Amino acid sequence: MEMDSPSQCRPPHVVIFPLPLQGHINSMIKLAELLALAGFKLTFLNSHHNHERLIKFTNIVAYFKRYPGFELKTITDGLPLDHPRSGNWFLETYEEAIVMKIKQSFREMMINSNPPVDCVIADGFSGYAIDVANELGIPIIGFRTSSPRSFWVYYSITDIIKAGELPIRGSEDMDRLITTVPGMETYLRCRDLPSFCRKPDIEDSTVQLIVKQTRKSTQADALIFNTTDELDEPILSQIRTKCANIYPIGPLHAQLNTRLKAKHGESFDQFSNTLREEDKSCIPWLDKQPNRSVIYVSFGSITSTSRDQLVELWYGLLNSKTKFLFVVRPDSVIGKDGEGEDFVKELMEKSKDRGYIVDWAPQEVVLNHQAVGGFLTHSGWNSTLESIVAGVPMVCWPYFADQQVTSRVVSTVWKIGLDMKDVSDRKIVEKMVNDVMVDQKEFVNSATDMAKVINQCVSIGGSSSNNLDRLIEDIRMKRLKTTKRL
Ligand code: UDX
Repeated sequence: MEMDSPSQCRPPHVVIFPLPLQGHINSMIKLAELLALAGFKLTFLNSHHNHERLIKFTNIVAYFKRYPGFELKTITDGLPLDHPRSGNWFLETYEEAIVMKIKQSFREMMINSNPPVDCVIADGFSGYAIDVANELGIPIIGFRTSSPRSFWVYYSITDIIKAGELPIRGSEDMDRLITTVPGMETYLRCRDLPSFCRKPDIEDSTVQLIVKQTRKSTQADALIFNTTDELDEPILSQIRTKCANIYPIGPLHAQLNTRLKAKHGESFDQFSNTLREEDKSCIPWLDKQPNRSVIYVSFGSITSTSRDQLVELWYGLLNSKTKFLFVVRPDSVIGKDGEGEDFVKELMEKSKDRGYIVDWAPQEVVLNHQAVGGFLTHSGWNSTLESIVAGVPMVCWPYFADQQVTSRVVSTVWKIGLDMKDVSDRKIVEKMVNDVMVDQKEFVNSATDMAKVINQCVSIGGSSSNNLDRLIEDIRMKRLKTTKRL
């Protein structure tokens, strides 16, 4: 290996390694571009499968050519290429054998890298990357792509169990407050714990896997969170008691927008990191609608809904007084093969005057469109941040994992929306959509105020902008390994 120091004769070489999932790639590729903008040599390590999709649906190769030294490399995700990777495939296939395959390939790539790797930024859910980096003496930063509050709840699960607050004792127990997550004692109920905490067997392997990966990520040299001090400070202070060096540098999409505009001007056409084909026909449709008159409905890249749930949501929207733009991924409706697609076409036909349905939308553009006044969302972390930055209030219908926590925070802590968790009843959908869209003043004001504060954080001198500069300097000056471990 070369013995040179990046600060003396070459830019630092950073490897960014996300989990092979849309929500994780989104924020990590934005961080990759931010570090490339700072002049770093960047290797973005994606699964073969997702790399192929990015090539198919985006201009990824041409786009990143503008950064000298930006390399797109691929690695196995442990599954054969023709595996469907649908639904919650990642957690279902996360087994030791698969992890070993990925770990081995990753280790070889790190050893053979030329120039040598100065820092790895790996998804916080990939504990094996910490082992490899530690073995090879490479500084490693864990990137937790979901919210810090959900991270903190995952981290605390062992204590919640020890205190006898889990397992949950039936449906009448769901509104009991959980008192053993420091900083969240006043608002976190059993109902708001990550979905897998509802399992009667709390020693279940998925629960154990998530707890183990979460605790392990605090063994990295530092942790990155896609948030701001202003959104999450009370909990970030708690997390600092487990990992002293934290970089809250988000919302990353807004941070990147700000820096790209500063460099290239307002009209710069950014990279869309979508793994699916975007249906842009919804934009001319939105152009024809009055200001803040449309609710955007999308449940992210993993959520699936039953036909009955979809019917209730659809009737709730139809009975509300508002128009809607509805994203229904063809693979998201649970039914027999092909049945989902026909069903969606049927809905589309019946709601032509009131709604517009697409398979996949250019979400950031949609949320920033003046016709959009609300977001019915699954509370995925990227979607939540995109809504906050755009100043759009939310109706939250969480599906799984971190989303149960986030929807509670949106409604009770930040007060920029309503939490519709555990309900799929057309009357409630109608009421909540009207509350946010028609009687919207209160939510519009709070969402607009929050957007101002959060956009300020990514401007020059703002907390996230300063934290990103600190991250860049710490990597450049090789300060990460010197951070005191707890
Ligand atoms: C889930 C989690 O809930 C998330 O918090 C976790 O970190 C990763 O797994 P996902 O279902 O993908 O993620 O939701 P989300 O984090 O909201 O990400 C979805 C992304 O896809 C967003 O960036 C959104 O802009 C994009 N999207 C979604 C589109 O571009 N078009 C669409 O039609 C829908």
